[in-house]
Amino acid sequence: MVVTSEDRMSCSVHLSEDGRSVVILDQRKLPNREEYLELKTAEEIFEAIRTLAVRGAPAIGICAAYGMYVLALGEGKEDFHSFSSALEQAGAYLISSRPTAVNLSWAVKRMLAVVAGNSDKDVPAIRDLLLQECISIHDEDIRMCARISEYGLSLVRPGDGILTHCNAGPLATSKYGTAIGPMLLGKERGIDFRVFADETRPLLQGARLTSYELQRAGVDVTLICDNMASLVMKNGWVQACFVGCDRIAANGDFANKIGTSGVAILAKHYGIPFYTLGPTSTIDMACPTGADIRIEQRDPDEIRTMWYSEPMALPEVKCYNPAFDVTDHSLLTAIVTDRGIVRPPFDVNLKKLFAEPGENL
Ligand code: MRU
Repeated sequence: MVVTSEDRMSCSVHLSEDGRSVVILDQRKLPNREEYLELKTAEEIFEAIRTLAVRGAPAIGICAAYGMYVLALGEGKEDFHSFSSALEQAGAYLISSRPTAVNLSWAVKRMLAVVAGNSDKDVPAIRDLLLQECISIHDEDIRMCARISEYGLSLVRPGDGILTHCNAGPLATSKYGTAIGPMLLGKERGIDFRVFADETRPLLQGARLTSYELQRAGVDVTLICDNMASLVMKNGWVQACFVGCDRIAANGDFANKIGTSGVAILAKHYGIPFYTLGPTSTIDMACPTGADIRIEQRDPDEIRTMWYSEPMALPEVKCYNPAFDVTDHSLLTAIVTDRGIVRPPFDVNLKKLFAEPGENL
């Protein structure tokens, strides 16, 4: 698949035309306003990631990669050691903006490896290599999403009901997205599905982003509250669950938006296949199990007051607001990656996936 600059520019994260800033579609404002932000400083990039102006594991990684390049341009030091230590510091700072999605550190480490591997070159030449690397990271994601969408499409039949949680569409990735990719690709090919989008409390990614993306693409989407998934499944309206992932451990446990593991438990109860779809950049073979994934805790006001015209809880009430949960691999039917569909035993087959990239392990 040939990726063009138009493909890149149409994504929710891209490099500005003059190549000096990271442009993001501000996802906090959707679905009511389409506003773009230009990020130039480390603080702006950090805040955009922390506050979810840019969100979704792959999109965060792409933003951080472009961010590292933009920061390298602004880094005035022309001797290798000062340049490289300034970028290492910037990379550590960006990585600290959100802990769970592995794509963030994965992308920053790839950019830093370019610097470290070219200590014999002058700084302007390293900047050129960094530009190539961040574009490669973006292009790879566009290709990976296209392949994941193809594999995902092979798992469902025309007319099927598909339930999804959070947002793993083009806004969170590139082009088709991951968990939503099969539905968008299907639509392009005249295959229709009935999609149920969980609204995804507390930040409402399902309502604000997933139903927005699918409705605009002409896909038959029905928005439901998170606590309605069980009834929708019981009614026989769901033939498969497709969700994204923020980090997949080596044993197949995976972190995704809070509420995902509940959907997986319900799916098991009703005998519905449950899939996570994600690029190989989201698989962290250095993380043995879900218990080793750090779960982000977020501001209690996301529960108490955000989105409401009046607070919905007393200001002093105690809140527990983990952004993600871990779904046990025993609840997973398969992991749909850009290199094929991985089935249990996940610990064995994920190893094989990296050892000999093949299909339908
Ligand atoms: O907190 P968010 O909105 O960044 O969480 C996003 C998710 O959990 C997505 O499902 C995941 O990143 C996959 S995006 C392709």
